[in-house]
Amino acid sequence: MSSVNRRSAISAGVMLSGAALLSACSSSGESSSASSSSAAGSAASSTQASVASSASAASSVSLPSASASTESSPSSLLMIVNKRRPFASKTWAPNDLVPFAGHQLRKEAAAAATAMMQAAQAAGVTVTVTSAYRSYDDQVTTYNHWVSQNGKAGADDVSARPGYSEHQSGLAVDFASPEGCLLQECYEDTSAGVWLAKNAHTYGFILRFPKDLKPVTGYAYEPWHFRYIGRENAAKYVSSGAKTFEEFTQTGAAPNYLGED
Ligand code: DAL
Ligand code: ZN
Repeated sequence: MSSVNRRSAISAGVMLSGAALLSACSSSGESSSASSSSAAGSAASSTQASVASSASAASSVSLPSASASTESSPSSLLMIVNKRRPFASKTWAPNDLVPFAGHQLRKEAAAAATAMMQAAQAAGVTVTVTSAYRSYDDQVTTYNHWVSQNGKAGADDVSARPGYSEHQSGLAVDFASPEGCLLQECYEDTSAGVWLAKNAHTYGFILRFPKDLKPVTGYAYEPWHFRYIGRENAAKYVSSGAKTFEEFTQTGAAPNYLGED
């Protein structure tokens, strides 16, 4: 399939998937809890103690591949899931989700994202949201949709299997733009995409799936997908020179699912 046709297929799929997700999200109704930020903060410091030393880690697209592991502290702001590292409890859900731009997000991430979008607007740039928190069941729907559109191999390039998506963490957002390019590479050239690429880190968000780094992240370039890790961590991420969250957290590359090399 040509890249143009593939993008069309992806774009069409996304519209259907977005509608399905919106309806799934609005009925999921998690209640909010006071335990959120502090729990995340302490989990972050205890489970990812090596992050401070990552500033000296060499940037490379050829990180050693990770062996099997799981994320057992999913409420940590530094939690990491990828193709080598699913949620230890596959159907885990945050306990501090709040409404966010027609979707849901963890409370701290929602506040940061809202401030970020307001700052963009103040600079004359409209940033919108197409997806945020997705439950395990939402991801079943999403992944199956992509498989139906692009086949399993195509789906695995752009969509995490259920239990492996950081959208389930309540810390990831897919942004959009009134200029279009919804979930397409050309999002990087929209006003919103350009603004986010330059400014998101100052609000605690990092670009999770950078260009040409599928050998490390496992996924194609997603200039719309940002992950909240907190402002201090994002500042460390930038100053570390790390190109991926895998490199920053020293958890190893995750090019594919184990046993599917
Ligand atoms: N699109 C990203 C990889 C996800 O499904 O989580
Ligand atoms: Zn995403």
